[in-house]
Amino acid sequence: MSHCKPLSLLLALWLCFLKPTMVVGGEPLLIDPHSSKQSDATPVGVKECAACHSAPSPIYQDRGVTRFVRLIESKEWLERDKHSYAYQLVRLDELKHESNKLASEITKKLRYKKGDFERNCLTCHAGLNASEDYDSRDVKLDLEYGVRCESCHGPGSEYTKRERHQQTSWRGLKPEEKSEFGMWDLTSPSTAAAVCLSCHLGNIAENRFVTHAMYAAGHPVLPPFDLQIFLNAMPPHWKTLQEKPTFEKQSEYYQAHFDTKGNTDEIQTIKLSYEKTRRSMIGGLVANDVGLDLIHQGAAKTETWGDYSNYNCMGCHQELKKNSKSVLLDSRIPGRPFPANWLTLDYPKVHASSPETHDTLRRELFASFDSVPFGDTQRINQLRDRQRQSLEERFLDRRKMERQVMSKEDVLQWLFFLTQNREDSMKDFWVARQTAWMVCVAIDELVEHGAIAAIALDSVDPAKKELQKLLRLELQIDRKASVLESQSKILETANRFDSARCVALVKALVQTAIETR
Ligand code: HEC
Ligand code: HEC
Ligand code: HEC
Ligand code: HEC
Ligand code: HEC
Repeated sequence: MSHCKPLSLLLALWLCFLKPTMVVGGEPLLIDPHSSKQSDATPVGVKECAACHSAPSPIYQDRGVTRFVRLIESKEWLERDKHSYAYQLVRLDELKHESNKLASEITKKLRYKKGDFERNCLTCHAGLNASEDYDSRDVKLDLEYGVRCESCHGPGSEYTKRERHQQTSWRGLKPEEKSEFGMWDLTSPSTAAAVCLSCHLGNIAENRFVTHAMYAAGHPVLPPFDLQIFLNAMPPHWKTLQEKPTFEKQSEYYQAHFDTKGNTDEIQTIKLSYEKTRRSMIGGLVANDVGLDLIHQGAAKTETWGDYSNYNCMGCHQELKKNSKSVLLDSRIPGRPFPANWLTLDYPKVHASSPETHDTLRRELFASFDSVPFGDTQRINQLRDRQRQSLEERFLDRRKMERQVMSKEDVLQWLFFLTQNREDSMKDFWVARQTAWMVCVAIDELVEHGAIAAIALDSVDPAKKELQKLLRLELQIDRKASVLESQSKILETANRFDSARCVALVKALVQTAIETR
């Protein structure tokens, strides 16, 4: 299957002459729900979206639109969301914050020339998209808004055209149908996770990748990612399903997103299901696949292979001392750098279709890291076609999975699998943090649903508080606050991390949940 239609090839060549190409590494393997059906849509800019999404106009109010969406999204994002300040914290022309100085220092150390900052940094810090010309005045102004509406929701030229997405009929479209018009449906957890992870983990094809050179020049360490925890840390400009009262085309809306006939009873069941745990779980599965894809993308070309940022940082950055708290897990071969542990964990039994193929491929892939230092690219590349097929199946699987709701039993089962046999891997601080996030999402939702006996709450709360402290679980949510301060605290916490205590706390939490079922 070739992705290069002659027309897009010509366009790509033309862009190569115009600007040094942004694409590095091999072509992605994962069908990425936010770029697969990439339409010809292009961004229209924040101001365009804000025109309707800052305050509900009387017309929309009269039509009952605000039962469905708040229409103050833009105001909320501009005043409270970190993403609208992401460019301001790294801009090079005003050294207002410590972070601006750091950004400037990083680009100096990396000997950046004109355009390098935009191409290598603003892809994440302002969602710069390959179709945008950063030299144009309009784009320059738009970039100042940082991570913009369209960086998350998709380029708007098609879905805003002829009132397309403004009509209530749009509500009945499935996520894959919306993406044909450029809109990425973020109510779909697999789409949302892929969108967030393209910046919060990386996507080589979009030139969103924090290289080891950037880290060595001072870039903060990207923490692991849990979709629900990261959403909790964003000021919500959306309405959750529970917050939407009955609205026009409701039945069609639910049918587009869930396996349901859309009658009132079924809708009620969906509203009472475990949406947050579902998001956390699917987000975890997507993160693993994005991690596998990054390895394959890197291995496809010699120029992109071997970047140290693809490996577990602590494998190299640990102190040489007796009994150093090495993160060399029992499962690892000494002297063979390995990808980040939190990305290489699997979630057994969650995926339905061909788990054997997936397991075999993973085993073969990881064995290639044991065979020669830094991994054997030849062996990795031999797995490429099979891996592509497996990732494709898993993607379609998740699409099916997210149409089903999670019950309390499902949540308990998920908690059980999640924490089974984690003693070894939780010696790694980042794995422990990731696992604790996921456990807390599920436990909090069980508590919200009154599914944990009141008496048990006396032990749940202190355990959660202690985990919070041991792992510094909270994220930075203030719009203008730099992550640098919290980053150094997280690293300090990582250095005096008590793994056994975390395992005990996590196990106790899960035990409490299971016992009070
Ligand atoms: C002309 C006014 C207008 C403009 C311009 C506009 N929107 Fe909307 N948007 C609306 C209205 C009205 C709705 C609610 C439609 C409905 O009633 O279902 C909406 C709904 C949405 C939704 C929810 C749709 C869904 O599928 O759940 C998203 C997301 C959205 N807009 C994003 C954007 C973005 C991003 C931009 C800029 C590229 C934008 N809009 C530009 C008026 C507008
Ligand atoms: C960092 C990513 C991000 C940015 C930037 C962002 N959004 Fe959103 N937006 C989301 C997420 C996530 C959701 C909710 C998905 C869900 O319902 O679970 C959402 C939901 C929405 C919805 C649907 C609300 C509903 O109640 O269903 C609208 C409309 C919307 N955003 C408009 C905007 C506009 C306009 C901007 C820019 C001013 C913007 N967003 C910027 C991530 C983002
Ligand atoms: C294979 C070993 C290896 C891995 C894995 C690795 N590094 Fe490094 N790192 C090095 C070496 C060697 C240097 C010194 C490079 C230089 O002199 O420029 C370095 C330098 C650094 C520095 C500069 C300060 C210092 O301590 O010397 C930082 C910060 C850094 N690495 C962060 C990271 C992060 C974050 C990761 C994981 C994403 C990572 N490294 C993974 C080997 C590694
Ligand atoms: C285009 C890139 C991009 C996308 C897409 C994106 N983010 Fe971000 N996000 C950033 C950047 C850059 C920062 C750091 C802002 C800063 O501190 O300067 C950030 C910061 C955050 C933070 C604060 C992090 C911390 O360590 O405290 C949260 C939470 C967050 N994003 C959530 C999300 C979620 C949820 C999504 C998907 C719905 C998302 N982001 C999508 C680029 C992105
Ligand atoms: C893959 C996406 C990505 C790329 C590429 C990237 N960054 Fe970042 N950067 C982030 C995220 C995400 C954060 C926030 C980390 C966190 O949550 O702790 C961040 C944080 C920062 C911060 C600290 C901001 C603060 O809140 O104080 C600086 C400074 C920075 N980046 C500069 C740069 C520079 C300069 C480049 C290019 C050389 C670059 N970044 C490339 C994603 C990226």
